[in-house]
Amino acid sequence: MGLHGKAVVVTGAGTGIGAATAIAVAARGASVALVGRRRDALEDTAAAARDRGARQVVVIAADLAVDADVERVAEIALAELDGVDGLVNNAGVGRFAPLREADVADLRYMFDLHVTAPAQLIQAFLPSLVRRRGSVVNVTSVAGSLAAPERSFYGATKAAANHLTRSLAKELAPAVRVNAVVPGPVDTPIYDQLPLSADGLADFRAALVAATPAGRFGTPEEVAPWICALLDTSAAWMTGVLLPVDGGRCA
Ligand SMILES: NC(=O)c1ccc[n+]([C@@H]2O[C@H](COP(=O)([O-])OP(=O)(O)OC[C@H]3O[C@@H](n4cnc5c(N)ncnc54)[C@H](OP(=O)(O)O)[C@@H]3O)[C@@H](O)[C@H]2O)c1
Repeated sequence: MGLHGKAVVVTGAGTGIGAATAIAVAARGASVALVGRRRDALEDTAAAARDRGARQVVVIAADLAVDADVERVAEIALAELDGVDGLVNNAGVGRFAPLREADVADLRYMFDLHVTAPAQLIQAFLPSLVRRRGSVVNVTSVAGSLAAPERSFYGATKAAANHLTRSLAKELAPAVRVNAVVPGPVDTPIYDQLPLSADGLADFRAALVAATPAGRFGTPEEVAPWICALLDTSAAWMTGVLLPVDGGRCA
């Protein structure tokens, strides 16, 4: 039981939920491959993972919206880690806009990042995951089930990621488990990229807190253990689960 000695790939590992997950995975004795576009952010996570006793850390700078990069990630991870037991599809962006102003290119981009790349990575790692009775965790969002004005494109891609999770869980059972962690509002740099003024961002964050029974944002460190739990062989009876870690947002 446990993650000790396993090899896990975490996408979007430079910041936020992905960084906390990579560090938590490393602290449990696993080797970890860190994927994201910014090498400096990945190196920061790598240093923290080594501090927590990581067996092996591999940094792979790549843009998961680019097919050739996705293929390269799979090749490097398989070669460097000598196979893969776990995959955390976490990389994501929040491009929110009212429909009248929204650019359909953002919908395509988020579909590539939240659905296509995860599917491609699962495909690429499948022989290894089957051989090792592996586990996939997709990080989706409460926006995949809650209807939210001005977040329809984002929510649609997260709903698709939830569907991919449940469909593949059935298709790949019993060899490979596929689950999702479904976060509510978590304090990460994802909010820094929103096209909002400081006041607009403060209002948006206050509205999210007001809609969250726990009355606050979560932290990445409160999400990471649940991703680890689903990766862990002790969750062998769990597949096709969409696990809310959301301060009660979807209750
Ligand atoms: N924070 C929340 O409230 C919340 C709520 C629900 C769901 N989520 C989901 O949680 C996941 C993690 O987000 P977070 O909140 O931790 O935000 P974050 O800190 O911004 O993390 C997202 C990560 O994805 C990486 N990324 C973005 N575009 C990429 C690309 N094209 N190729 C490779 N990597 C890419 C980013 O690194 P680079 O920029 O270096 O590539 C970044 O490290 C996302 O899927 C998000 O949708 C977050």
